[in-house]
Amino acid sequence: MKPTNLSPIRVGLLGIGTVGSGTYNVLQRNQEEIRRRAGRGIEITMVADLDVARAKAAVGAGVQVVDDARKVVTSPDVDIVIELIGGYGIAKQLVLEAIEAGKHVVTANKALLAVHGTEIFAAAHRKGVMVAFEAAVAGGIPIIKALREGLTANSIQWIAGIINGTTNFILSEMRDKGLDFDVVLKEAQRLGYAEADPTFDIEGVDAGHKVTLMSAIAFGIPVQFDKAYVEGITGLAAQDIRYAEQLGYRIKLLGITKRAANGIELRVHPSLVPAKRLIANVEGAMNAVVVQGDAVGTTLYYGKGAGSEPTASAVIADLVDIARLHTADPEHRVPHLAFQPDAMSDLPVVPMSDVVTSYYLRLKVADEAGVLAKVTGILAGAGISIDAVLQREADEVGGEGSTHTDLIILTHDCVEAKMNNALAQMQALPTVLAPITRIRKEELA
Ligand code: NDP
Ligand code: HSE
Repeated sequence: MKPTNLSPIRVGLLGIGTVGSGTYNVLQRNQEEIRRRAGRGIEITMVADLDVARAKAAVGAGVQVVDDARKVVTSPDVDIVIELIGGYGIAKQLVLEAIEAGKHVVTANKALLAVHGTEIFAAAHRKGVMVAFEAAVAGGIPIIKALREGLTANSIQWIAGIINGTTNFILSEMRDKGLDFDVVLKEAQRLGYAEADPTFDIEGVDAGHKVTLMSAIAFGIPVQFDKAYVEGITGLAAQDIRYAEQLGYRIKLLGITKRAANGIELRVHPSLVPAKRLIANVEGAMNAVVVQGDAVGTTLYYGKGAGSEPTASAVIADLVDIARLHTADPEHRVPHLAFQPDAMSDLPVVPMSDVVTSYYLRLKVADEAGVLAKVTGILAGAGISIDAVLQREADEVGGEGSTHTDLIILTHDCVEAKMNNALAQMQALPTVLAPITRIRKEELA
């Protein structure tokens, strides 16, 4: 049996906010079990936070608390640095300095890695240290481990995930309770799900960061958030959620990455998902990721994607991994992005105009003869096949005596450029009275 009398590994924590305090608390609470798993103790010995008084109140007397994070990064008494400050500013400098000082890094900072990952992983590779980031994608769900290790036999075909708790919470509460967007967003902020800047959540940027990381690991391509297509939920109207339901679908903000004939798709947008799919029934701040591999088939990972202790669970899993592996030769460790650094692929990220998907369209139209024929004629002319049409009674949509109504069309698959063209033609019809709503549809079969 491996000896467990090694001295504890010493951890410096940068930022003791929502996730930092959860990490400290869970490590304290489960320290004995964690020690038995890791083969040695894991102790937070130093904490840096701007609010020293609050940080001191959050930790035990034996922990040194400082306001200058650089003191932690450069301390000879720290073996692993956990970065839980967030953002691309000071966090980037601190992570690079920690790597330069030969320290392993654990971070939950998806924004930092999705944008500067290439530079950070290269620096870590040069120094022979680990940068672990399980908490950066889907909070407590061990999806990085699953993709990087558990599914390593597979050629991954696609991944589709609800990977932002805030937006899933907003969509669920709007659908179930008819609550307003702003009210639910405030509640998500109060519960600690939302990013420091919640526009990252609602505009799809946070999900874009996460799917960028999963894509790199799944397909062995560089981390390239700048090539991701990102659309959030702010353009969604309550009636689209209702109409989707009447047609047997739920609207979810999905992060999707897919192997296509011409490269890799990398996109985030609201999507209609058949209500019968498990992922369509993931509610509240919960996350879920579906991965399709050629050998394993479809696998589904579900759990809390945000919050103090769920995210701490992933941070600590990384600490244990490092505690076990830090004496191993760097070439015997699992590569940061699953593929060996010299074996990455140069598959391009497919531009959105070349992506093939199906669509939900909502048109506010004049309630008069020939409107439907004109609209369907444009779609037919573009070679876009219709799957279903729903037209509401004008009175039901606009009140008694209304002269307009909603026309809902579901299409079969077509390339996005074709749909853009058809949309421009439909929008130009005088009988189309408002900007057309277009939501992509994913069958996830
Ligand atoms: P918080 O804002 O709750 O915590 C960040 C902490 O860092 C605060 O205590 C802040 O102090 C402190 N801080 C800011 N600047 C400095 C600095 N220069 N030196 C030292 N400390 C500093 O954020 P979270 O815990 O929510 O998030 C941390 C990271 O985890 C982010 O990257 C986030 O995206 C990620 N994440 C968060 C999840 C969540 O559920 N919250 C889930 C998954 C990932 P002050 O408050 O005084 O500014
Ligand atoms: N703001 C993120 C979310 C936190 O809502 O999912 C977890 O990464």
